[in-house]
Amino acid sequence: MQKLIIKGKRELKGKISVSGSKNSTLPILAASILANEVCLKNIPLVKDIFTMVELLNFIGLKTKFNKKKNLVEIKNNEKNINTLAPYKLVKTMRAGVLVLGSLLTKYRVAKVSLPGGCAIGSRPVNLHLFALKKLGAKIKIKDGYIFAEAKKGLKGTIIRFPSISVGATENALLASINAKGRTILKNCAIEPEINDLIIFLKKLGASINLKGRTITISERKLKKTKIIHEVVFDRIELGTYMIAGALLAKNKMIINKINPKIVKTEIDLLKRTGVKIKKSKTSLTIKSSKNLKKINISTKPYPGFPTDLQAQFMVLMTQINGESKIREDIFENRFMHVPELRRMGAQIEIKNKTAIIRGPTKLTGAEVMATDLRASVSLVLAGLVAENRTIINRIYHLDRGYEFIEKKLKGCKAEIKRI
Ligand code: EPZ
Repeated sequence: MQKLIIKGKRELKGKISVSGSKNSTLPILAASILANEVCLKNIPLVKDIFTMVELLNFIGLKTKFNKKKNLVEIKNNEKNINTLAPYKLVKTMRAGVLVLGSLLTKYRVAKVSLPGGCAIGSRPVNLHLFALKKLGAKIKIKDGYIFAEAKKGLKGTIIRFPSISVGATENALLASINAKGRTILKNCAIEPEINDLIIFLKKLGASINLKGRTITISERKLKKTKIIHEVVFDRIELGTYMIAGALLAKNKMIINKINPKIVKTEIDLLKRTGVKIKKSKTSLTIKSSKNLKKINISTKPYPGFPTDLQAQFMVLMTQINGESKIREDIFENRFMHVPELRRMGAQIEIKNKTAIIRGPTKLTGAEVMATDLRASVSLVLAGLVAENRTIINRIYHLDRGYEFIEKKLKGCKAEIKRI
């Protein structure tokens, strides 16, 4: 089992580049089932992406990685297509459930393992199935699998989501691509990753219009040509490094290959604490400051503050004067990093869905354990700011979503190594 060893309190300076978005690459890989040929660029070489590509291979698509260029080529020659997403692949990578919409709209039948829960919550897919049924799919749940079919194809309709869900919006969007007539999806998630999926689907010939939280899809024949697409940058990785800079960039740290407009909320919040941030068209310069000011935050669907940055922001709050609060409004169990941060000296109290963080506290290095992707990166941030040495176990959680994290942080003078 690999571990990360971090020697804390090193000043961060220099440049760091952000990789492509995991959460944009995953639905676009699922959408590749609808295409003939795809070249997907700027993909992050992380575990979840390898698992999703393995799922496409299992279904019968031909895939070829070019890891040096961070790209994957995908071909669907329609031979021996297996409309099955097996438990062994979906259990470790929940986003495997996104092939349901593509398989159903193209092959009119699909058997997809229920993704099951994970550390941060039960992660139901009822909203996904609600939308597919509205489009005319017959859905049956048996032996832990979703059996879906639409013998006469799916039929466009108006669907209003009772609550906002990224995955359900993506699955419904994919399913509507070959549906007859017009589909109107209301109360959709509008994360930048969904916008990236829409751009990809439009390259494929789909007719899609996004306005507010409404996505309108009109029936259109898809192209057979090769689709080339560069995946949008990972705004959560960016937010993570912005917080690292806010904690330790006494001079300045520059983060490249990004679009600051997409992370306006995060920039505004960090500026409110007193962190100095300068923007250019494709980069950010971060400079920490002495006495940061406390703030209260709640996690919200985009464009609100992202739940995927909650654990990371909490580490910053341990260094802020006074009592800061962060409320987790998206997932029911996303405070697993708190006991580990407490072991490093953080003063955090949980009241219902709100964490109350008293600062500034001196964090001291400890041996800690990662539990889920974003909790594990909050332990990296805590290790960077803590006295002495921090050892982080179970870093396979980290490798699911952060490409070359120790290499990138070493590039900014952090003392971090993997053993
Ligand atoms: C996506 O998960 C992301 N994953 C998550 O990132 C992210 O935290 C989440 O969106 C919220 O932004 C990918 O994009 C692969 P949701 P998703 O459906 O789609 C409830 C990471 O760290 N819900 O928007 O599963 C659900 O339980 C991951 O990269 C239902 O009740 O999130 C949650 O409370 C973690 N029924 C809320 O909605 C459903 O059918 C939002 O979930 C679906 C969701």
